[in-house]
Amino acid sequence: MRLVFLGPPGAGKGTQAQRLGERLGVPRIATGDMLRQAVADGTQLGREAESYMERGDLVPDAVVTGIVGQRLAQPDVAAGFILDGYPRTLSQAHSLDAALKQSGVQLDMVVYLAVGAEEVVDRLAGRRVCGGCGATYHVRFDPPSAHGLCDSCASSLVQRPDDREATVRERLSVYQRLTSPLLDHYREQGLLQEVDGEGSLEEVYRRIELLATLPS
Ligand code: AP5
Repeated sequence: MRLVFLGPPGAGKGTQAQRLGERLGVPRIATGDMLRQAVADGTQLGREAESYMERGDLVPDAVVTGIVGQRLAQPDVAAGFILDGYPRTLSQAHSLDAALKQSGVQLDMVVYLAVGAEEVVDRLAGRRVCGGCGATYHVRFDPPSAHGLCDSCASSLVQRPDDREATVRERLSVYQRLTSPLLDHYREQGLLQEVDGEGSLEEVYRRIELLATLPS
């Protein structure tokens, strides 16, 4: 399966893509995670991306398309992948279309997780991520067993700097302006599947799993 997960910040793309990827045996390719890792490592890419991310803006298309192109050339994506957070502009979508065409492969589906603005603000305000392994939690909806500590590696949980309310509002506005036009792009290609992203983590996962495991 070659899938793209689309949706506003906090829609649950990362949470659901991670679980579905494990179920399907394909890697989740998350540009946000790749960029945050580059920032943490202090690489040239990280230095370039950091100020955009802090403001809630998008990192320039050429930079992101470059790192995704390198990732899609790795052998572990031969059996499929889930793109989470890419593409995010029409220009990125056109680059992805061209790269897949050149490789002689196609997307199977674009999963659009539809979630209202107030719900995503609530989700992002309560999101905590593990500083060690990057696992995601929510203080109310998906809390760890021990307060403030990761279930998997026991490292401390932290709040992402771009999850502060003012930055979240900016990310939502960027999403509306630059990313939501992708819905029509993929609808026209007959690839878009809209999933109600509201409800419990389990309910949303069941809706996505049903779509992704239907015989084609
Ligand atoms: P990125 O990390 O991709 O952020 P995002 O798209 O804004 O998405 P999020 O990670 O915030 O949310 P999500 O939908 O994955 O939700 P999650 O599953 O965590 O990008 C960050 C930045 O990097 C961008 O702003 C940009 O600067 C840059 N960037 C990245 N890609 C780029 C690109 N292609 N081009 C240019 N720049 C790029 O869930 C959120 C919370 O809700 C969690 O706490 C979770 O536990 C909880 N939750 C999830 N589902 C449910 C549910 N059903 N019920 C209750 N709680 C739930």
